[in-house]
Amino acid sequence: MRMYDLIAKKRNGESLTEAEINDMIKEYVAGNIPDYQMSAFLMAVYFRGMTEEETVAMTQAVAHSGDMVDLSGISGMKVDKHSTGGVGDKTSLVIGPIVAACGAKVAKMSGRGLGHTGGTIDKMESIPGMRTALTQEEFFNVVNKTGLSIVGQSGNLAPADKKLYALRDVTATVDSIPLIAVSIMSKKLAAGNDSILLDVKTGSGAFMKTVEDSIALAEEMVKIGENAGRRTAALITNMDIPLGNNIGNSLEVIEAVNTLKGNGPEDFTEVCVNLAGNMLFLAGAGEIEECIEKAKTAIADGSALERLVAMVDAQGGDADYIRDTEKFEKATHTFDVLAEKEGYIVSMNTESCGIASSMLGAGRITIDSEIDFTAGIIIHKKTGAKVVKGDVLATMYTTKPELFEAAVKRYHEAVVIGDEKPKEQPLIYARVTKDGVLYSY
Ligand code: URA
Repeated sequence: MRMYDLIAKKRNGESLTEAEINDMIKEYVAGNIPDYQMSAFLMAVYFRGMTEEETVAMTQAVAHSGDMVDLSGISGMKVDKHSTGGVGDKTSLVIGPIVAACGAKVAKMSGRGLGHTGGTIDKMESIPGMRTALTQEEFFNVVNKTGLSIVGQSGNLAPADKKLYALRDVTATVDSIPLIAVSIMSKKLAAGNDSILLDVKTGSGAFMKTVEDSIALAEEMVKIGENAGRRTAALITNMDIPLGNNIGNSLEVIEAVNTLKGNGPEDFTEVCVNLAGNMLFLAGAGEIEECIEKAKTAIADGSALERLVAMVDAQGGDADYIRDTEKFEKATHTFDVLAEKEGYIVSMNTESCGIASSMLGAGRITIDSEIDFTAGIIIHKKTGAKVVKGDVLATMYTTKPELFEAAVKRYHEAVVIGDEKPKEQPLIYARVTKDGVLYSY
């Protein structure tokens, strides 16, 4: 194989064979293909796209570039969920316990936050004592005992994706639908679950800004998953407004616990029961409506909350913090952001809301930054709300009051107040399965 020939082939709009793709990924991980040639190839894909066969082959090659996790040591149906990332997205902490309470197994690897989006692992680590790096044996034992475990991603999962992603990040080739599909699905296939639910976020706080692009990405990922013998589906969910009211690590854990106690915000609860219902459906627990009802019951009867308590306890965390969230350390400083005029909240730039929270210390500026677990924002007024001048739009939390000024400025820029009440947006736009796109179900 000559990398030059593969670049030229893709540049000319031709398709690569499975063997060519396998060789290319193997040689790239081995260090035999320089980054400048791989960059040229990625840019050719950016403009020419890839066929379904190429996308499937590249996903498999990237997945097999490292460990393929074997979850056969865990009994029962194992179902995974992946969110393409958003602001206030603490769904894993709610739907994992719901799905476990309903009888399926959740053996989940999650990530840390970077940029404007939070990460489940950081949120979990705001619970004192919580361990997120377990040995494989510990991970399996926790899932077999409690029905779920959430841990950090193992070091050798899809190493080709780590190299490719870093390269895409600096060569303006991140926002290519086939390359995103390969990147996400290679890690999901390597993680070893029987079925996969994809939560493809859409809107100002998401990677995909339009519903059309989100559906195209979802369709591509569902095809890859089904082709690999995993039951796969996707929900296209709204990220044009932050999800729930709390942004920031311990603030999001508190909101997740409140939701499991039946006191969560309506939008967040609705998205969680739909995601959990779809995971249960993929795990073979019944028809979709029945599975959504099961998810609601697991909240109402407290069984999902018990699963979260059990998982936290099994992973070394102090489960008293879940039983009584008043125990969480509070930020030393708070600041109310006030409406500067009367009107309706017409829109919220969700990415900027996430950045404002990050600026308070809830997120990382670089991969090594220290996180302030108490920092973040509680939103009191969201898109569509009527406000008068002086109303509290949001409360900010931090241990470093000098961070308020810039974060408040960013938040004000994000929240647009106008005269006309905006049209209500759907929380869930569509469901994508191997049978097609359903706009309501
Ligand atoms: N998330 C990923 O893991 N990869 C991408 O390319 C984009 C989002």
